[in-house]
Formats: sequence, C-alpha cells, structure tokens
Amino acid sequence: MRMLDNFLQTELNDLQSRHLRRLLRNVDGAQGPRVRIEGREILNFSSNDYLGLASDPRLAQAAKEALEKEGAGAGASRLISGHLSSHRKLEQLLADFKGTQSALVFSTGYMANVGIISALAGRDGIVFSDRLNHASIVDGIVLSRAEMKRYPHGGMKALEEMLKETPAGKKKLIVTDSVFSMDGDIAPLDAIADLAQRYGAMVMVDEAHGFGVLGKNGKGAVEHFGLEGKIDIQMGTLSKAAGCFGGYICGCETLREYLINKARSFIYTTAMPPMAAAASARGVEIIRDEPARRTYLLELANDLRRGLNDLGFDTMNSQTPIIPILVKDAKTAVELSGALFEEGIWAQAIRPPTVPQNTARLRLTVTAAHTREDVERLVKALRRAA
Ligand SMILES: Cc1ncc(COP(=O)(O)O)c(C=O)c1O
Repeated sequence: MRMLDNFLQTELNDLQSRHLRRLLRNVDGAQGPRVRIEGREILNFSSNDYLGLASDPRLAQAAKEALEKEGAGAGASRLISGHLSSHRKLEQLLADFKGTQSALVFSTGYMANVGIISALAGRDGIVFSDRLNHASIVDGIVLSRAEMKRYPHGGMKALEEMLKETPAGKKKLIVTDSVFSMDGDIAPLDAIADLAQRYGAMVMVDEAHGFGVLGKNGKGAVEHFGLEGKIDIQMGTLSKAAGCFGGYICGCETLREYLINKARSFIYTTAMPPMAAAASARGVEIIRDEPARRTYLLELANDLRRGLNDLGFDTMNSQTPIIPILVKDAKTAVELSGALFEEGIWAQAIRPPTVPQNTARLRLTVTAAHTREDVERLVKALRRAA
C-alpha cells in the first residue's frame, strides 16, 4: 500500500510542479450557460452543450417516458437481450436524418471510435491519422494493431506522399476529426475524400463536434462540404449538440452488420440505458427541427471570435463554436483560467498531453443558450485578466 501511495504521489507532485495536474470541479444542478459551483453562479464557457439541449425539459421528458416504459437499465448487451425499442428508434432516426442506409449506436463516442477502428483495421492494415485527432481515435488505432501513420495537422501533401508510398494491395483507412476538439478548425474533408478515392483508401470522419453544428441541416461537416455519399463511415456523438449521451456510426447496411459482429466495444458491454437513447433521440429531433438554434450559435461564435481578435488574442484557425485562446505555456493558461474564475467565468485551461507541448490554451465554447451579453461579459473579463 505504502509503496503504491509513494509512487502515485511522486507522479502527482511531478504533474503539479509542471502545472499539468488535473482537478475535478464540483458542479451542482443542471448543465447550462450558468452552473453552480461551490455555492456561486458561474458563467460557463467550458461545455460541449452546443445547442443548449443538455437541460432541455423535452429531453428530460423523453427520458422519463422511456424510464417508465422500459426501466432504468438495458439488462444486457445489445446482442444478448438488450436491443430495446428506444435503441431501434434512435438508430432509425439517425439513419433517416443523415440520409444513410443504416446507423448503429454505441454506449459512448469513445467506445464507437475504439470499436470501429479496431474492427476495420488489423495487423495487415495502415491507418492514416491527423496528428490532432481525438484520443479515442488514437486508442482505437493502437488496439487495432494496424500500422499508424500520423500526418501533420491538415497536411494534405504529407498525406498524399504517405498514400503514394503504400503498396496498392494494402488495406488503407484515413481517419479524421471533422471539427478538431481543442482547435475548433475544420478538416479539409473534400481533399481527404479526393485522395481516398485516388489511392483506394476508406475514409472515416468523427463528427463529434460537427453534428448539430455544421451543414445546412445540421448533419455535420460532411454536409457542410456536400460530401454525402462520398464518406464511408460517419461517426459522431450524442453527448454534445444532441444534449445527452452515446456514440453512433452512420453508413451502409453492411458496415452496420459487420460492426455488430466485430466491434468489441459494441459486443462486450451492456447496452446504453433506454432513457439515454430516448433523450438522445429527442435531441436529434430538435437538431432536425430547430435550425434557428444553429444559426444563432454560429453568429454568437463569430461575435466572440471577432471580439477576441480585436483584443489581440490568437484564436488559431477556429471556425466553429470551439474557440481557443493560445497562450502557449501551461502556467499562464492556468493563471488566466483562475483569474476568470475569480470573476465568475469558467473557461477551461487545456494543457499537454491533451494538446501538443507549448500550445497550452484556454478553450472557450459558446452555446445557443448563451446571450450576447454573456459573450460581452466574457470579452470584458478577458481584457482585464490578460
Ligand atoms: C473528437 C471526439 N471524438 C470522440 C469523443 C468521445 O465522445 P463521447 O464523449 O461521446 O465518448 C470526443 C469527446 O469526448 C471528441 O471530442
């Protein structure tokens, strides 16, 4: 016991000394633009609740109804006895909305990425992955035992070189976030789809931060680029714009059948609680039916970015409601976040290893539930804090 404790404490002290130790903040009550932390009301610019649906009463009502009809737990994995009507309804809704042959829901987006990539790529395959892809993609590749080739962020020339030098018969999969979670920029999906076609590779796009936010109808970056029908695998989450919980893939029927048989994070885990599936489905319906939320969200994000740029802050290549302020060193990021918190504003400091060394930042996210006054208050507080 003592040896373990000493070892762990040394590691934690080391993180602390480098300003990299992570702490949990105790939030009371519901998620939203304002949250209660230690008895104070804090203006929240740290969530991924882009459309403000996490505490929408319509999602809570859908969860309640499913709870009464189907119970609290699914009871088993989907392949054993847990394939419930809420899951089926959610999958049909997703396929119809995205315009794909089929959809398959996983318990989380993390599990979807790990399951899909490890099922599709094997020792004989190569996965080409943007250097800034989400950790769940990296973990999926590691688990697949395929060779991982990381290309520089958005680097289409480098990706093409890598594809060129790969033997023709090799199984190739290109994987990318559509919206990069810590940078807020959009992957060049049109160029990726083009390269994939020319070099015979499959493409998988992670729409965790694109779904519900981008595209004329909110279907994501694939719609934004007009690439429907040209991307083999569209993965996404129900935990961000859709306001609840879960991961999904949308694609052809064969892909769904294959993953049901091969994706270990689908097969060997209990199905998502039906109330989460029902609330997520309600979130997807709201994405589909209330485009004004998305329009307002994107306007607000533009306002914030403009306000920050006018103050001289570096918002990197952000084009979405994820707006980083690059400060580079971890200590400054923590101090800036702390100064804002004193003023009642929550803006999370993001440090390595979540982002590359020397690129620590504040990660701001606006939501459709924020007001213009909220954004003005943030900009003024940042001016003072900086
Ligand atoms: C790009 C990306 N992919 C996947 C995930 C995992 O999704 P989930 O939170 O549903 O597990 C996240 C965020 O958590 C993400 O940012």
